[in-house]
Amino acid sequence: MSHADDTAGDHGATRRDFLYYATAGAGAVAAGAAAWTLINQMNPSADVQALSSIQVDISGVAEGTQLTVKWLGKPVFIRYRTAEEIEAARADDDAALIDPNAENANKPDAPALDANRALDEEGKWLVMIGVCTHLGCVPIGDGAGDYGGWFCPCHGSHYDTSGRIRRGPAPQNMHVPIASFLDDTTIQLG
Ligand code: FES
Repeated sequence: MSHADDTAGDHGATRRDFLYYATAGAGAVAAGAAAWTLINQMNPSADVQALSSIQVDISGVAEGTQLTVKWLGKPVFIRYRTAEEIEAARADDDAALIDPNAENANKPDAPALDANRALDEEGKWLVMIGVCTHLGCVPIGDGAGDYGGWFCPCHGSHYDTSGRIRRGPAPQNMHVPIASFLDDTTIQLG
């Protein structure tokens, strides 16, 4: 935590922000570079857009579980999907989807096929901004809802295992942010 002392100085707010993120990302957000990025990001004088990326260590995420990290003030779900989840998602590629757009910032205007939403070709990793596209609640994961993906209890929106909206008032699939693999165990957001 020496970085916190080095960088926070007398700025209590900055130090609190750092500690908050460090706790939220324990075992997830790599210390060091990622923490620096977050600190810089919280600095009002910094150019937020230019520094708005973090690196997430996914080596500890087990298959069938989800890691949630906070990025740019929003939760981001990073899910290591099981074969069954991938299969279910891809089996529904032809279903009548409420939102036909993949809503993937990495693939603008691509159709909502699961392959256009997953981060890797096999579809093991699904990265989404964990915010319901209705009014912004954070959906419940781990197989929740009628489609085995996520469920937003605020007004009853059901998302499938690809994070696509399938039932309820939400108008769009959960958004996939700019993301990429830096190596086998590190995902960069932004
Ligand atoms: S905010 Fe999710 S259903 Fe309304």
